[in-house]
Amino acid sequence: MEKVNLDWSNLGFGYMKTPNRFVSNYKDGCWDKGALTTDDTVTISECAGVLQYAQTIFEGLKAYTTKDGKIVTFRPDLNAARMKDSAKRLEMPVYPEDRFVENVVNVVEANSEYVPPYGSGATLYIRPYMFGSNPVIGVKPADEYQFRIFTTPVGPYFKGGVHPLTIRVCDFDRAAPNGTGHIKAGLNYAMSLHAIVDAHNQGYDENMYLDSETRTKVEETGGANFIFVTKDNKIVTPKSKSILPSITRRSLVHVAKEYLGLEVEEREVYLDEVKDFAECGLCGTAAVISPVGKIVDHGKEICFSSGMNEMGKITKKLYDTLTGIQMGIIEAPQGWIKVIK
Ligand code: PLP
Ligand code: COI
Repeated sequence: MEKVNLDWSNLGFGYMKTPNRFVSNYKDGCWDKGALTTDDTVTISECAGVLQYAQTIFEGLKAYTTKDGKIVTFRPDLNAARMKDSAKRLEMPVYPEDRFVENVVNVVEANSEYVPPYGSGATLYIRPYMFGSNPVIGVKPADEYQFRIFTTPVGPYFKGGVHPLTIRVCDFDRAAPNGTGHIKAGLNYAMSLHAIVDAHNQGYDENMYLDSETRTKVEETGGANFIFVTKDNKIVTPKSKSILPSITRRSLVHVAKEYLGLEVEEREVYLDEVKDFAECGLCGTAAVISPVGKIVDHGKEICFSSGMNEMGKITKKLYDTLTGIQMGIIEAPQGWIKVIK
């Protein structure tokens, strides 16, 4: 199919309406079959569970045009599984994992003229989400839900593409030790909004959240996990029960070990030791791998030797290998690539 005429290389990370989306409703204990629709609006009760008590969860994944012209997605089964975990934690019905993947495929196929061309630097972002739709006034889960998937073409999440970021150690907390940090619930992002606006106002690109119990350990940012590289080229990534289990991070751990022969440590990472790392990056679907050049801890600057002009050497290898797999240049591990068409 012909692509629409867009300035693909200059897209930012924003919403652009594409022609088709998927909608399915849950009522009386079961999901209906669902259908594609061109209607991009949602009509719900003024008292819907999502509006009163924030009962909403979401996912994020991307579709890519490969070098040989196929359209593919990356590990959608893991997004389906994570959405199941999110649903259970918020007392929402699980959307069946096989139907999640099937309808991701259907929506991308139905919007295929909006999947950015190979080499443009842009991708089609896919946003599955679910919310409580019937009236709820006492604090309890809704009985009815809507599951939807829309798509939007996007460029880099951070302005300036792969220019190293400056982030600050944040005094606000994102997640509690036994809270909801490990699931993809809208409420986690609502509570990060003040912190990100404040960070931007002070000239920082992002926040580094610490564990809220001891405020000594690195957790993640508002929308990505951390990857560090030691001076002897070992990968270190924070392990915590209150961070989102990033699919990109889990994939990079495999890439580092199996493709690049690097040692990987998934462990608690103390803020105190961050100054000893050589490279730092943020990883996620939207962030891909965005290099961090500097972390500011209450006026004290931690500058990585990779500098403020380019990605660190190892970070770049990870980036090239992961994106190479996603774009069909490097052979993927079994089951990572779902071909759409
Ligand atoms: N952490 C947070 C808070 C996120 O919102 C995201 C984005 O999905 C990630 C990490 C990265 O996860 P993934 O690699 O699965 O996109
Ligand atoms: C993603 O990477 O898919 C996310 O949901 C992160 C968000 C900050 C856009």
